[in-house]
Amino acid sequence: DPGLSLRFPATPTTPTPDEARASLLVDPGFGRVFSDHMTVASWTAERGWHDDGVRGLEPMTLHPAAAVLHYAQEIFEGLKAYRQPDGSVALFRPDRNAARFEHSARRLSLPVLPASAFVTAVTELVRLDAAWVPDPPATLYLRPFMVATEAFLGVRAADEARFGVLASPAGPYFSGREVGVTLWIDPELSRAAPGGTGDAKCGGNYAAGLAAQGVAREHACDQVLFLDAVEHRWLEESGTMNVLLVTAAGELVTPPLGTILDGVTRRSVLELAAGHGLRPVERPVSVDELREGARSGAITEVFAAGTAAVISPIVRFREPGGEFTVGDGTPGPRTLALRSELVDVQFGRAADPRGWRVPV
Ligand code: COI
Repeated sequence: DPGLSLRFPATPTTPTPDEARASLLVDPGFGRVFSDHMTVASWTAERGWHDDGVRGLEPMTLHPAAAVLHYAQEIFEGLKAYRQPDGSVALFRPDRNAARFEHSARRLSLPVLPASAFVTAVTELVRLDAAWVPDPPATLYLRPFMVATEAFLGVRAADEARFGVLASPAGPYFSGREVGVTLWIDPELSRAAPGGTGDAKCGGNYAAGLAAQGVAREHACDQVLFLDAVEHRWLEESGTMNVLLVTAAGELVTPPLGTILDGVTRRSVLELAAGHGLRPVERPVSVDELREGARSGAITEVFAAGTAAVISPIVRFREPGGEFTVGDGTPGPRTLALRSELVDVQFGRAADPRGWRVPV
């Protein structure tokens, strides 16, 4: 596979002066500040992968007929680089993102980038822009993506594509005081359907979810809880994150894979569950079970899991018929304990028996 020879050689640009960078790292928010460089690679059906490297961040030039602009042939990933106590930098389970990127590429008929090349692409960028990795609790959010660039208006898999990785310093999603979020249970709009692209990380899924997010906000909710597209009965995802529930019976329950994203944070908390006295269970959860369980106390905590926000406590649900609260309406102890353990592993403050941290 020619993709296996990709090395992403660095061509450094003039770096942002230390003082200017330091001021950008003070309160970067999410997704607006970018480091000095980006990883790039091009692909054509004829030549395979080529022109790989890490270069100065600059606008991409696309023909207006590029397939991505018309038919949304696009995929992306999200992972983070974490500053460690000794000053070094580590990634968290980048092999999982590489595997999912490959899965997404196949689903969107884009070329596959070998997993080893994916990890090299990310690593080389973080090495060159290591000064952009903030101190905890902030991180350097990494955004690998692939777009179909062939200028052709016919509908078929494009013969040309480009791969890139961006690095964006990101503040913590949570400050000291935290109240937990309210979700809108939408009775109509769905995120994904059986046989669709719900288990691929493609831009189209996120575009299609925006309308439901808008409805949620109209109902004074922070995010939407997507139900399945067939019966509008089974929990799928919370906005752009996986959803998990803690039961009084000592289970950590989450919907099974299929139409939802195979989240790295979802996987990780399922693997950490046993250490918290919880049995991980992947099974369908109906909105009736959620509503009745929250009312009876059979469901004690609910949270959302994703790379960007890590773990987000969910304390209230609103739906056309009314609303209900989970537990006492504040973030639950298991939710907070799972989150602490996970971020301690990520930031190198806890042992890593599973080998999730990968030094850069
Ligand atoms: C997540 O990390 O939870 C995401 O889905 C990232 C989002 C910014 C697209």
